[in-house]
Amino acid sequence: MNTSELIRSRRSVRTFDGRSIEPDITENILEYAKNAENPYGIPIEWKILNSEKDRVSSPVIVGTDTFIAGKMKRIPHAEEAFGYSFEKVVLFALSLGIGTTWIAGTMPRSAFEKAMNLGADEVMPCMSPLGYIAKKMSVRETMMRNGIKADTRFDFSALFFDGSFDNTLQPGNMRDLKLPLELVRLSPSAVNKQPWRVVVDGEKVHFYEKRSKGYVTNGWDTQKIDMGIAICHFVCGLDELNIKASMTVSDPCIACPAETNYIATFTIQ
Ligand SMILES: Cc1cc2nc3c(=O)[nH]c(=O)nc-3n(C[C@H](O)[C@H](O)[C@H](O)COP(=O)(O)O)c2cc1C
Repeated sequence: MNTSELIRSRRSVRTFDGRSIEPDITENILEYAKNAENPYGIPIEWKILNSEKDRVSSPVIVGTDTFIAGKMKRIPHAEEAFGYSFEKVVLFALSLGIGTTWIAGTMPRSAFEKAMNLGADEVMPCMSPLGYIAKKMSVRETMMRNGIKADTRFDFSALFFDGSFDNTLQPGNMRDLKLPLELVRLSPSAVNKQPWRVVVDGEKVHFYEKRSKGYVTNGWDTQKIDMGIAICHFVCGLDELNIKASMTVSDPCIACPAETNYIATFTIQ
């Protein structure tokens, strides 16, 4: 499968089939994670955790004893950087037949932070189970998915704009950005809120975060992790089409709707 196929076939997996993952597969994932860079150049330290040895688990996960988590310094852009690198790991795991779920909330956080030896200046934004996908979802998983409409995404017209937030981007004006933008649209996000908004202005593609209430705690913005995931998917789409682009953080000061803030700009070469 190429990356866009992996993105299209990925879903959160909360029910696993009970088989343990072979050590060479977890080592392969860990090695990939250690090399998974992000456009912010922020390093992340990764660890594979075991429920028995490390005393970790999640109330929404059944059928696996293996988890992966990452920690990093609590610095500006840590959220987007984590979103970008962790999503690369998620897609790599899927390429090996291993299911994952981004988990920021439904876990005993202190147990995971202890297992990660978290320092006072560090943050462990999310963890994910790793395991073989069960044929059938648990009743709880099905109910969770229905509750947050996990199988749906907003339409293109609600997410992508042409020059300013006043004009929706028409299919005829997407040029070769159709695939990268479709991959942005398919990104996973916390509670499926889909905060990404994009303004295409000539060769510039500006990413914005449409904030929902309740996702910022002590200056830490979980929805910026979603933005990192969306940016990762955008870059996957560009790479697949061999389109070169560079990313900068330089606000073009386009008038924004309420609760919408600038994140990053790609300049297509
Ligand atoms: C940053 C982030 C945090 C998330 N936290 C949780 C969580 O705590 N528990 C959970 O069950 N799912 C969590 N999810 C999974 C989302 O609910 C899921 O990605 C979304 O509903 C879309 O469904 P899909 O991943 O199957 O496409 C999280 C996703 C992201 C991106």
